[in-house]
Amino acid sequence: MDGLKIFSGSSHPELAREICDALGISLGALHTTRFSNENLKVKVEENVREQDVFVVQTATPPLSEGIVELLILLDALRHASARRVTAVLPYYPYARSDKKDEPRISITARLMADLLATAGADRVITIDLHTPQIQGFFSMPSDQLTAVPVLCAHLQKQGLDDTVVVAADVGETKDAGRFAKRLNLPLAVVDKRRYGDDERAKAVAVIGDIKDKRCLLVDDEIATGGTIFSATEFLLEKGARSVSAAVVHPVLSGRAPERLAQSRLERLLVTNTIPIPPDRRSPKIEVLSVAPLLAEAITRIHDGRSVSELF
Ligand code: R5P
Repeated sequence: MDGLKIFSGSSHPELAREICDALGISLGALHTTRFSNENLKVKVEENVREQDVFVVQTATPPLSEGIVELLILLDALRHASARRVTAVLPYYPYARSDKKDEPRISITARLMADLLATAGADRVITIDLHTPQIQGFFSMPSDQLTAVPVLCAHLQKQGLDDTVVVAADVGETKDAGRFAKRLNLPLAVVDKRRYGDDERAKAVAVIGDIKDKRCLLVDDEIATGGTIFSATEFLLEKGARSVSAAVVHPVLSGRAPERLAQSRLERLLVTNTIPIPPDRRSPKIEVLSVAPLLAEAITRIHDGRSVSELF
């Protein structure tokens, strides 16, 4: 593809390579040096002058290091005279810090958007932001893609008899509605409460008919798993026949892998917006790739064609 280059930060090179394979190009060459004082130097090892450049970096540990590496890489590309630089952030950093819901805290998702612009990003691509309003934080054009069609296409191939889509919390109702519409299934909603830190998410009620049904919980992300595992137990106690989940971002932080092993959740369908390290994988987890979706979006942006047509 003429004039198009893809580079990868260190957070998810497998995904960047998959995108390149789908586009039929090779991954751009970079060299990163970490000095003894922990400063990073990122050197772009090929000419990018007047090129349309895409940089893939997702939010995963070590998170702060990944953010700084991305900012340095964007700056390096700008100073190397790339024509346009697009930050491809499959899982957007600090997406949950999107509002000032306590006094004297940062709206860090907004800060991230400002930092990307300052570092030299001309455009941003993300997938399923925690809340769609985060798009308003960007001063440059942004394309929020959705992996819901990827998950639904896979689910459609399985038997979905007697299945009800269940939003993992009230905030997820709109997205769950999209699943229900695509899969032509009924919808239910869990009322979740948080008491203190994230691991203490607790399902307290369910709106909708789940008795003797196979419940498909949907959420944008699974972090500690508090939301999904509490909902699973609650739905089973209320008479659900079985519970599985479809979630876009497998954050799987803290004790989530152990809790998944102990949980009665049958299956967890996720995407590869975030890599799952080998020691945090589970036979219950099935991973679908978003590389074809990102490759198609990148092609369309490069060619100046509509991205919304993708959905
Ligand atoms: C919350 O609003 C989100 O949609 C997810 O439910 C939440 O981020 C999941 O976090 P955890 O797995 O720690 O409960």
